[in-house]
Amino acid sequence: MTANTIAINQLMDKFDGHHSVWLFGYGSLIYKADFPYLQRRPASIAGWTRRFWQGSHDHRGTPEAPGRVVTLIEEAGAICHGMAYLITPEVFTHLDHREKNGYLRLAIPITFEDGEVEGLVYIATPDNIAFLGAASEQDIAAHIARSAGPSGPNSDYLNHLASALRELGRHDQHVFDIERHLAALRAAPSE
Ligand code: SIN
Repeated sequence: MTANTIAINQLMDKFDGHHSVWLFGYGSLIYKADFPYLQRRPASIAGWTRRFWQGSHDHRGTPEAPGRVVTLIEEAGAICHGMAYLITPEVFTHLDHREKNGYLRLAIPITFEDGEVEGLVYIATPDNIAFLGAASEQDIAAHIARSAGPSGPNSDYLNHLASALRELGRHDQHVFDIERHLAALRAAPSE
């Protein structure tokens, strides 16, 4: 599959005719809402886990030296906590551009503390060409430490995400382990 998903996402007609749609964010969409929204609420989705397994060619790395950003991986019993936004359909033009490096819109049940709605999430599936896949948290931290792209250092993405999860009161072992390894790398005397 091509790394640029804009055309595929524009064919998504599931919510055509709706005045507003709930979008679930689990990565930079938690801490960087650079789009208009009608409501913003902490939420979760079931059966998916957050992993720094997606390559970033356009935000936190380059095509030659991709950074690492999060995607969702299916895992029975897992719960992924994040932030949901109620948006109008026009906002998808901006979001499709922002998430164009491998992410596809997927319809998904979104859970709030007082109920459930059907909404959308952007997921970079393992068949997209920017997908990097599994690595140890230590190796991911080293990869993030040396990566940067047009949106800034890859480490900012990780640190902003870790802080946003703490603000939400949510523990994510994978994210916090990478943060710890990155801090240790930064603290190590350079040769
Ligand atoms: C998301 O935040 O929901 C998608 C991944 C990202 O943009 O970091």
